[in-house]
Order: sequence, then structure tokens, then C-alpha cells
Amino acid sequence: MSSKAGPGSTRCFYAVWPDAATRRRIAAAAAVVEGGDGARLVPPENYHLTLAFVGEIAAAQLAVLRQVGRELRAPGFTLACDAYEYWPKPEVVVAAAREIPSALSGLWQRLHLDLNGHGLALAPKRLRPHVTLARKVTQAPVWPAMSPFEWSALAFSLVRSDSAAAGPVYTVVDTWPLLDE
Ligand code: 2AM
Repeated sequence: MSSKAGPGSTRCFYAVWPDAATRRRIAAAAAVVEGGDGARLVPPENYHLTLAFVGEIAAAQLAVLRQVGRELRAPGFTLACDAYEYWPKPEVVVAAAREIPSALSGLWQRLHLDLNGHGLALAPKRLRPHVTLARKVTQAPVWPAMSPFEWSALAFSLVRSDSAAAGPVYTVVDTWPLLDE
């Protein structure tokens, strides 16, 4: 099955959405980053850890994405976000986790394998766990040392992304639990 854009298509990805306490920790980390002219801070309700980017799919393929999420069994994990990074190509500032929990890399591999089985979502070369804090950042900002924070991932979601003038609007389509660590 191949991806298909067009009328009725929808842009989707899988992600871990933070709980309220984690969202506050991410917001505190974002507050000290000066993105510079034109930078757009990610609104706290949009913070997420992307697991797999699917892109545009025909609406009919949503059922396949839901099935992949529903059938996936993987343990939860705790991520230590401990470094700011500036990525010049996508022009973003992120809070990154330098250590990758094995449960996260297992989940990332499993998800991409399952999606590949349906002709969807090729895995990037490597997993770089992060939460994007600011977009349209055209120059590497200066920032203080980051106060590390932890993020316990107990569930993951399939999310729809719609474009709007003020930036993307994300809608959680479905959420599935991760197993006890
Ligand atoms: P990121 O901000 O965590 O890096 C929804 O569009 C999310 O999917 C984005 O927030 C981005 O995650 C990721 N994404 C968008 N376009 C992508 C692409 N072409 N390849 C990989 N990930 C992408």
C-alpha cells in the first residue's frame, strides 16, 4: 500500500504526548531559549516526542494506522531530556535526550517495521529523541546550561496534523498504552 496525498488526504504521525507536569517542565526549558527574530515558539499544547512521521495518507489508510498502533505491544520508558540542540536544516531548537532508552529504540524500530510492512513511513537514519521547542530559528541561539528533566512515556498516540495560519493544529486520533517498564 503506498502513501497517497490528494482530496481527503490527511497528514499523520505517531508521537508521545506529555502529561501536564511534563508539559510544564518542557515549557520551563523553552522559556530560556531566545529564538531570535522571526522564531516561532511551539505552543505548549503542541509539545510532543515524534516516534514515526507518516506524512500525507488517504483517509482510508487511517484504519491501517490505527491497527498498527492497537496491535503494537512495547514497554514504556523514561526519557532524560538533558541538552538543547540547534538543528540548522529544519531551523529548530530542540530539547534532546542524549541517552536513548532501549525500550524507546525497540518501540521506534517495531513501529517502523510494522509501517514498512504496509508500505508506509520509512525510518530516518537514526533515532534522535527530542521535543521541538522553537521553529523558524535561522541562527544558532545562545542558551544557558539546560536543567535536565525526565519524561515518563506511558502511552503513545496517532496524531493528525492540519495546517493553519498560526501553525500546525494537532488532533490526537487514538492513544494506546505502553506496558509497565
Ligand atoms: P519534530 O518536531 O518532533 O521533529 C508532525 O509534523 C511532526 O512530525 C513534526 O513535529 C516533526 O517532528 C515531524 N516531521 C515533520 N515532517 C517530517 C519529515 N519530513 N520527516 C520526519 N519527521 C517529520
